[in-house]
Amino acid sequence: MAPQPKPNAHPQIKYTKIFINNEWKDSCSGKKFPTVNPATEQVIAEISEADKADVDNAVKAAQKAFERGSVWRSLDASARGRLIHKLGDLMEEHVNEIASLESLDNGKPFGDSYGQVLEGVGFLRYFAGCADKVHGKTIPADGKVFALSRKEPVGVVGAIIPWNYPVLLLSLKISTAMAAGCTLIVKPAEQTPLTALYVASLVKEAGFPPGVLNVLPGYGPTAGAAISNHLGIDKVSFTGSTVVGKSILEASAKSNLKKVSLELGGKSPLVVFNDANLDAALKYASDGLFVNAGQTCIAPTRLFVQAGVYERFTKMYVEAASKVKVGSAFEPGVFQGPQVDEKGFQKVLSLIEAGKKEGAKCEIGGKRHGKVGYFVEPTVFTNVTDDMRIAKEEIFGPVQSILKFDTLEEVIKRANDTMYGLSAGVFTENLTTALQFSKAVRAGTVWVNEWGIVHPQTPFGGYKMSGLGRELGLDSLDDFMETKTISINLPSNH
Ligand code: NAI
Ligand code: MG
Repeated sequence: MAPQPKPNAHPQIKYTKIFINNEWKDSCSGKKFPTVNPATEQVIAEISEADKADVDNAVKAAQKAFERGSVWRSLDASARGRLIHKLGDLMEEHVNEIASLESLDNGKPFGDSYGQVLEGVGFLRYFAGCADKVHGKTIPADGKVFALSRKEPVGVVGAIIPWNYPVLLLSLKISTAMAAGCTLIVKPAEQTPLTALYVASLVKEAGFPPGVLNVLPGYGPTAGAAISNHLGIDKVSFTGSTVVGKSILEASAKSNLKKVSLELGGKSPLVVFNDANLDAALKYASDGLFVNAGQTCIAPTRLFVQAGVYERFTKMYVEAASKVKVGSAFEPGVFQGPQVDEKGFQKVLSLIEAGKKEGAKCEIGGKRHGKVGYFVEPTVFTNVTDDMRIAKEEIFGPVQSILKFDTLEEVIKRANDTMYGLSAGVFTENLTTALQFSKAVRAGTVWVNEWGIVHPQTPFGGYKMSGLGRELGLDSLDDFMETKTISINLPSNH
């Protein structure tokens, strides 16, 4: 059982160095970079900055840990599963420290961080159980052979993590890779390195062999690019922007054709029909948007409301937005924290300006909140049309665009008129409408009468420019594995 939530606004920063081979090291260059608390704009700690030379060292460690006959490769799959369980248990035990660090570094409310650590523990437990349940087949091949397929770990994995759900996405990527039997180099986002370093200390404590998991804090164009270009890395698992996702695929093509899985952005449509339960729709639509200050890949940023309830639902939504409490992570009752950094903050404000200029009606918000910290007021635009930038671009902020529609056919067309395809949702009491929309919308996940629920057991990922591959669910292990065919000559007529 997880300990009771106990926020600590001043957690001790124990780990600030690079983690390679179960040891803490300074970076080869000796350089450090600051990580900042976005609620105060103050530096929390100076972190060792990994670069290409450190990535080279980490790859050597990860390759050694992956060698034939190594401790890691010699473990039974079930024993690998037990180690992953152990890591989950330790994270659960330390949930308060990890969640406090996450909130300090990212700015999200402590309760959210607490929940996300435990959700990450759920991912670890799910994949721990999968470790000895992924296997090949015997195959009735033509001719006199005995043929079988084997699932083998792909090798060294580079995991590049964004700053919006740092510990959750770390847990997801490391649990899948470890369950498959891979070794890893993790690069946390430069804005939020603290929790990945804390988890590294628990990896050591759990008893993972040296080199299985290496954590290298650093910047994208240096450490991140060194990972995606590396000849010794067999797969990159990336979550982040579409632009960087494309550059990773390109780096794979130009280096060693490493496998690449990408979870990129979205501009998800949520459709509210006249017959919907409006209270439920409101709760999911507003929580789904304002949670994490809108910095969520699956945020329902295009809210399509049917003409019959448009006026009423819009009023309800603006009222809900007026009640969203903005503040720092450790203030009780806060729902929305700051944007993660100055760059994200400015991007949100400039898209709000674009919305105003292009003729959308700003019903509430639209400005900076307070004087210190990267806070933005919960913002709602109505009279939004499909061609406006706020209806097309990923804002990654607390900004809702409400669009009006008349018919199912029309809204299917408009929902699909985007380069993205990560998620979609529909609120209606009519099963046929729900199923017709669910079948027709081009998105990796469709929620009916709910929003944003992600299960360890169900695949998650994007159509179109929202990404490549799927995470979560049993099949996601395939992305971390190779399939080998063994064909055995069996000269017999029987
Ligand atoms: P980003 O894509 O630059 O950052 C994500 C991760 O990629 C970080 O760890 C970063 O260091 C790394 N990275 C950056 N450049 C790299 C490179 N050349 N090679 C390898 N790794 C690299 O995203 P950023 O700039 O922080 O945010 C910009 C926008 O991207 C956001 O406003 C949002 O629209 C989107 N985004 C989407 C996320 C999602 O959950 N799908 C997460 C983060 C950002
Ligand atoms: Mg930070």
